[in-house]
Amino acid sequence: IGAALGDGPLTGRHAIVTSGPTHEPIDPVRYIANRSSGAQGAAIAAALRDLGARVTFVTGPAAVPPPEGVAVTRVETAREMAEAVAAAHPADVAVFAAAVADWRVENAAAEKMKKGTGGLPVLAFAENPDILADVAKMSEGRPALVVGFAAETEDVVAHARAKLDRKGCDWIVANDVSPETGIMGGAENAVHLVTATGVEDWPRMAKGEVARRLASRIAAELGTG
Ligand code: CTP
Ligand code: CA
Repeated sequence: IGAALGDGPLTGRHAIVTSGPTHEPIDPVRYIANRSSGAQGAAIAAALRDLGARVTFVTGPAAVPPPEGVAVTRVETAREMAEAVAAAHPADVAVFAAAVADWRVENAAAEKMKKGTGGLPVLAFAENPDILADVAKMSEGRPALVVGFAAETEDVVAHARAKLDRKGCDWIVANDVSPETGIMGGAENAVHLVTATGVEDWPRMAKGEVARRLASRIAAELGTG
């Protein structure tokens, strides 16, 4: 009821949430994608909204719909996502739940590629901007709390720690996306919250529950929870 009346612990706060996969074109009809459903990002946006935050939700082409009651910006590529995030500042907190393509096809074709004309296609890749790192390293107007995700298939916490340091963010929500966990694209998540001061291992739970727990931790960190 409190959230419906707009007086939750995050009332007056602005949150940016990225979510979903990105699509990187190969030609006008083909693209490179990944298995992110966007479910965890959507749940986080909804949980922050429920605590009263104004949420800017920047989403790639996700399988799950965006939550109600948030400002949605739909993008396709990593570079479009970076631009949309840059346009959304200032914010108190930014949560980067998107599975951003690390590389784009530098030699994407302007017309549909055809078989049998000059052999097999050869794709050349360029690295995409690191949206999380760029926000975490903003010299002016940086959100007070910058939260990244780390999808790993091995040495989950060690890789997450390295990512926290390399990217300069405040927290990393690390998860094991090995195929045998069934996490990627599933309804549940098992995460480790890695901060400068330590690691919390959260039990496997529904993505909505992970989101609510994260949102209340964010409210506490911003001094409003
Ligand atoms: N991220 C981002 N922009 C990118 C790549 C990643 O904002 N171009 C964000 C993701 O949304 C996530 C975090 O960075 O919050 C970590 O993403 P991840 O893919 O695990 O890390 P990378 O630095 O890309 O390293 P790698 O994929 O090689 O493990
Ligand atoms: Ca990556």
